Amino acid sequence: MTNTKKVLLLIHGFPLDHTLWEHQIGELQRTSRVLAPDLRGFGGSEGGPGAWTMENFAQDLLRHLDGIGVERFIAVGHSMGGYVVFAIHRLAPKRLAGIGLVASRAGADTPEARARREETAKAVLERGGIVAEEQMVPKLFAPGAPLETVEKARAAIRRASRSGIAAALRGMACRPDATIQLPEIHVPVMIIAGRQDSIVPPAESEAMARMIPDARLVWAERSGHMPMLEEPQIVNSALAELVEAVRA
Ligand code: MLT
Repeated sequence: MTNTKKVLLLIHGFPLDHTLWEHQIGELQRTSRVLAPDLRGFGGSEGGPGAWTMENFAQDLLRHLDGIGVERFIAVGHSMGGYVVFAIHRLAPKRLAGIGLVASRAGADTPEARARREETAKAVLERGGIVAEEQMVPKLFAPGAPLETVEKARAAIRRASRSGIAAALRGMACRPDATIQLPEIHVPVMIIAGRQDSIVPPAESEAMARMIPDARLVWAERSGHMPMLEEPQIVNSALAELVEAVRA
């Protein structure tokens, strides 16, 4: 890397935006160059019709990094952001200096999950992002999460464009199974999992960690699907450890 600080790219999950990394951005930029963009259709960025594959998101990010002269970087993805990290690994594995996977998974959707995503995409296009908000918010946090934390996720979902939500749902539905890639990842990997995650069951994180040669699995014991907001100090120290483990 040319800059003395290692570059940490934080990729948000569905249907959220970069603000969900607020605790990490503040802390980690003391030691790393932190980039936390909004994926297309989310946060303040424009939407558009069709299905956006994880490769489309990955290409957007790679183009952005090219534009600012960043060659190698550490990619950290939350949930859908992790699917995007796997797409970066398919497209440009040599650019990855390290990987962080927060409440994410390698497997593809089952046929039933694909059908549910299509139903939701249609409903979102018809009735708006409220459909995604109603489906997602109750599943994101461990019981007892403070209201203001839950509200942060709700506010991010409200900022997402309806076409962006639908396009990402369709893109996630057709993502390939990344399990086959896991033994081929030859950089340090930090997996951070919420013990009470109802979207990504703990067993999936354990299986993923076993298949990656240089992986470490850290549990956020009191977290659901959003450890970066629910137990930010655990996520911050795990990511600091990942940055340390990565060769410059
Ligand atoms: C996410 O948090 O990004 C989504 O729950 C991922 C998914 O629906 O598979």
